[in-house]
Parts: sequence; C-alpha cells; structure tokens
Amino acid sequence: MAARIIDGKAIAAEIRAGIKDKIALLRANNGPVPGLAVILVGEDPASQTYVRNKERACQAVGMHSEVYRLPRDTNQGKLLELIDELNGRSDIHGILVQLPVPEQIETAAIINAIRPEKDVDGFHPVNVGRLMVGEPAMIPCTPQGIMALLDHSGVELTGKKAVVVGRSNIVGKPVALLLLQRHATVTICHSRTKDLAGHTRQADVLVVATGRPGTITGEMVKEGAVVIDVGVNRVEGGLVGDVAFDEVANKAAAITPVPGGVGPMTITMLLQNTLQAATGVW
Ligand code: GUN
Repeated sequence: MAARIIDGKAIAAEIRAGIKDKIALLRANNGPVPGLAVILVGEDPASQTYVRNKERACQAVGMHSEVYRLPRDTNQGKLLELIDELNGRSDIHGILVQLPVPEQIETAAIINAIRPEKDVDGFHPVNVGRLMVGEPAMIPCTPQGIMALLDHSGVELTGKKAVVVGRSNIVGKPVALLLLQRHATVTICHSRTKDLAGHTRQADVLVVATGRPGTITGEMVKEGAVVIDVGVNRVEGGLVGDVAFDEVANKAAAITPVPGGVGPMTITMLLQNTLQAATGVW
C-alpha cells in the first residue's frame, strides 16, 4: 500500500489564509494588530534562517514583527532587560527568544522571564502546567502543528494507540499530552527504551522526534499506521526526517514528508498563538 502524503505545506497555507483574513478584520475594526518580537542572540546560521522565515511569515499575514539581533557575547542581564521592556509593551503580544542561546545565558531564566500570556512558544512553566491540567494555555508550536495536521487529515484519535518517539520539552512531552487529551492511549519512547520496535509496531499513530535519520524503518511500523515525522536532518543531498520515508510509506496509511510536512506548520502555529495572544486567550 502506498501511503497518502499529508501535505503540510497546503494545510499551513490554508490556515495562514484564515489568519490573514482575521488580521485584516482586526485592522478594519481598529482592533489590536498582533505584534511579535523575536530575539536572536548570536549568528548561528540555522537560527538566522529560522528567524528570517518567522519575520517573512509575519509580513505575509499582515502581522507586526520586530526582530532583535543581539551580539553573541550579550550577557543575561541585558537580555532580561529587553524581555522586561517587551513584556510591558501593549503593541507586542508575543515574545520569542530563538533557542539555543549562547552558554553564558541560562535558558530557563530567559523562558521564565517572558510573561506567560506573551509566551507564544508555550515554554513557560505556567503554560506547561496549564497544558498538563487541561486549562487554556499557549501550546508549543510544533506539537500544535502536529495535532492540526492530524485533524485536517481526518485522523480519529479516541481509543487509538499513539506512540511518541522522543521526550523533549519542545515536542515529545507536549505532543504526548495533547494526544492524551484527545483520548488516545499514549506511550512515550526514548533513547533508553528497550525494544523500540516492539512499541512502534503497535502504533496506530506514530510521532517521531528524535533528530536521528533512520530512527524508524519499514519493519518497525504497523500496516495502515499514520506516521508523523518531526525530524529535520541535513544530510548529503538535502533534508531528511527521522523516518526512512520510502520503506515506511509502503506500509503506512498516511505519512508526512520532510520537507513539507510538520515544518510549515510550526511557524503557522506561531502566527496563530500570536493572534490569540493579541485577542486574549486566557
Ligand atoms: N529553536 C528550535 N526550535 C525552536 C522553537 O520552537 N522555539 C524557539 N524559541 N527556538 C527554537
């Protein structure tokens, strides 16, 4: 069986069009124009690309965006001062500090300094806690994007067995909670899991976020599973995910490609979170 390709690019475009319309309506009614501040410390090339893409995405939907590019040797106090200033601005509804930050800066101190209602990454412990107990929260962008892909593809989750491979705070743990909220039976696997294939072969929905190409091969997937590949790995010849695409596509019912699967959804959810922050989520 050849899997259906879940087209993240098309789904993201559809959602972004809706966000653009909502922002146009806000502007027309003198409502708040959503504003996002992105802070980049240092010159990491991948981070520079991500930040540029975020800036462009904001412009494309008519959102206000500001990018602060700070030198690599910026100290923590200076960064906290900027966050404090942005926390106090009424025209900035979302604040995102591109990670990773240089080693003289403590990541947790930065995340904790952002006002939870402006934390469009959903990384602040208040938002993590709210997600855990099912209260309205800023939800991390990639997990939220994965859920949107599943919903747009008509994947039923109630009572299904979902296996998440990877336990990061950014993807694995939050996506497991979101799947649980939707009444899936969830297993989280990681680098110390024994008999990974024994778990993944039971999955109706398999989410893979390990950052290692070839984590999941064809024989590790059940016939008819839905496979979401979160990996973005630069290899000779281009980008690949964490899933051996060709062999898994022969067994799965549906699969996300890399690129063009989860990737386009992440920035889309950042736009959605910023719009929600501007119009008041909680
Ligand atoms: N670096 C890689 N992914 C992310 C993300 O989702 N948010 C932030 N702030 N930095 C990142």
